[in-house]
Amino acid sequence: MKFLYCLLQAVVVFAAGAVAQANPGACSGHCWSHDPSVIRRASDGAYFRFETGSLIGIWKAPDLTGPWEYQGPAIPAGSIIDLPGNDDLWAPDVRLVDGTYIMYYTVSTFGVQNSAIGYATSPDMEAGSWTDRGHTGISSREGDDFNAIDASLMRDISTSAYSVTFGSFWGGIFQIPMEGDATTAAGQPFNIAHNSTGANAIEGPFVHERDGWYYLFFSSGQCCGYDTDFPAPGEEYKIYVCRSRSVGGPYVDRNGVSCLTGNGGTLVLGSHGFVFGPGGQGVLSDPSYGTVLYYHYAHTDIGIRDADYQFGWNTLSWNDGWPTVS
Ligand SMILES: *[C@@H]1O[C@H](CO)[C@@H](O)[C@H](O)[C@H]1NC(C)=O
Repeated sequence: MKFLYCLLQAVVVFAAGAVAQANPGACSGHCWSHDPSVIRRASDGAYFRFETGSLIGIWKAPDLTGPWEYQGPAIPAGSIIDLPGNDDLWAPDVRLVDGTYIMYYTVSTFGVQNSAIGYATSPDMEAGSWTDRGHTGISSREGDDFNAIDASLMRDISTSAYSVTFGSFWGGIFQIPMEGDATTAAGQPFNIAHNSTGANAIEGPFVHERDGWYYLFFSSGQCCGYDTDFPAPGEEYKIYVCRSRSVGGPYVDRNGVSCLTGNGGTLVLGSHGFVFGPGGQGVLSDPSYGTVLYYHYAHTDIGIRDADYQFGWNTLSWNDGWPTVS
């Protein structure tokens, strides 16, 4: 009996160990989040967090942990792009390019392919400092193999060429080369990741470079609406990674399975404990915390509505060249 109990306990501990993931790092102040983009200002070390919704809200904090304070909308008049959804902008990605902060944003409506990626610029990221510049030239319409949403900028470390990775649902994650100033599309989009099972529910890509490898993080599954449309088990949002020696691919997962033709992807963060449906992620190289994975998630003690989502972050450890949440 005792032996059986111990054995059972060992099995339980092992099972828990196999799936255990660290809780999110601390967050104080205003921690509501949806598709966050986090960047540390080089001049003074202040942290800025940009979020999906209305006119792209700006939150600012002295540390990644907070206290986060709301500053106002980045694009108060809405986007000058003439499309439905231009007063409800999504999925910001903010980067420093040649001394200017560039924010990529999405104009779309939920589940519709009539979409465009626009951009705005600022010298310092503060509320009131952003100038909307409109279209990047990345767009989609009904019948395309992709949806022009969820931009992520990357610079090739050997050629210095910029590209934007984006999408999607439909055919999955795509990439497009950009002009030298990173603001205008300069070529045709091509597919870099795809999931042929289910609804091809992969989106929200973020490309991170480390030691000559490009890491493609993406969100897979159902992002939203958990209170009204609870997903089948395991089909809620979660974060996968694939990697490649070249920013344009081919991307494979940890087992060498193609992320374009083999439905590959290595799970980085899924639901665990009070964390449900983490996604909308990005990666920050931070001088004090190291490499940080940040994301939004539903905190099951707070609520599972979109309006309840919280900002989460964890440091990443690297084992054999693959990231794990620590
Ligand atoms: C691919 O889609 C299936 C069905 O929705 C899902 O269960 C699986 O986790 C997805 N895998 C990736 C790598 O996105």
